[in-house]
Amino acid sequence: KKAVLAYSGGLDTSIIIPWLKENYGCEVIAVSADVGQGDELEGLEQKALKTGASKLYILDLVDEFVNDYIIPTMKAGAVYEDGYLLGTSFARPIIAKKIVEIAKAEGADAIVHGCTGKGNDQVRFELTIKAFAPEMTIIAPWRIWDLKSRDDEIDYAEAHNIPLKINRETNYSKDKNLWHLSHEGLDLEDPGNEPDLESILEMGVTPEAAPDEPAYVTVDFDKGVPVAVNGEEMSATEVIRQLNVLGGANGVGIQDLVENRLVGMKSRGVYETPGGTILYRAHTVLETITLDKETLRVKTQLAQKYADLVYNGQWFTPLREALDAFVDKTQQTVTGTVRLKLYKGNVMNAGVWSPYSLYSESVATFGESDYNQKDSEGFINLFGLPIKVKATLDAQREDA
Ligand code: ARG
Ligand code: SIN
Repeated sequence: KKAVLAYSGGLDTSIIIPWLKENYGCEVIAVSADVGQGDELEGLEQKALKTGASKLYILDLVDEFVNDYIIPTMKAGAVYEDGYLLGTSFARPIIAKKIVEIAKAEGADAIVHGCTGKGNDQVRFELTIKAFAPEMTIIAPWRIWDLKSRDDEIDYAEAHNIPLKINRETNYSKDKNLWHLSHEGLDLEDPGNEPDLESILEMGVTPEAAPDEPAYVTVDFDKGVPVAVNGEEMSATEVIRQLNVLGGANGVGIQDLVENRLVGMKSRGVYETPGGTILYRAHTVLETITLDKETLRVKTQLAQKYADLVYNGQWFTPLREALDAFVDKTQQTVTGTVRLKLYKGNVMNAGVWSPYSLYSESVATFGESDYNQKDSEGFINLFGLPIKVKATLDAQREDA
């Protein structure tokens, strides 16, 4: 028997290997995805084999993650609730899709993941597995074993000689990739606690620690896709890397929020999305001059639906594909340059240009223009007709 495990090398997935061997007597093939989390991949193979896996695949998914998941979501303008830029949410479908491919190639009997039974990630993994391998057996140890907490896990790990780099006090539940880093658990579980950002942050600094001088950055877009930073052409992946550095240094993109999980509970998280926050702002600013009002209104409504689909793990669905088609049509004119000023956690507009701009200075100006002010009188008479009629009739009824 063979099982393929989505493996990160973290606590949850590390103890699953000996647990699977003990309880199912199966061979365990571990799969790790490089989605830009960086250092966490070092020493992973050694660790997986030492813990009992027969093999470790490490998949380089960074560019595919950026081009096929991050950028479409950004173009859609999808934001979950009060500012979560979906960094964990859209990483799950790409990882699960690749794991299905490996499970099929290996002739595996089951796919195993380390998500708890209380979260969103289990849903995202499993909906994707169902989309590509509807008959596949899925094993979610957290929903089976009687380890109830991270402390139980640590005890289990220590009893099975699994090397841990965490200690009991600092084990926030974290999820990292090129786009973001999330922190949940411990003192954050009480929404009354201010997060100790100085010790939490890894992708940047607090606004207080940021430079006293603002930093300027320009981002160029071609049909909604970022193609250059400060005039230098680069891939979208490189754009995100550079904006992460700039944003992080200026305290940009720190979100602390209570969100509604799909499984019903509220949960509190601190998110670091420095480059993503800059990119979203730049893209939104460019749309303010390149999209007409009605298109923008509809797009904004659909962005909320898009965010829910991504958050809920419904990536591989006809609706998401249809929304992408709509978004791509709107992006035909989202080409141009946006200049932003970064200052102690703030991102401020500092200029926007587009060859497709719908902004007409000669119409908008307070000076001499082709706008005929006389046209407004008739417009307001008709626009205000229902208000005027109601007020007139109300007055007549009061008199009667
Ligand atoms: N609450 C966020 C989400 O649902 C982040 C989840 C982080 N996941 C994790 N395994 N640490 O997308
Ligand atoms: C987990 O419960 O596995 C992490 C958090 C989440 O999935 O929402």
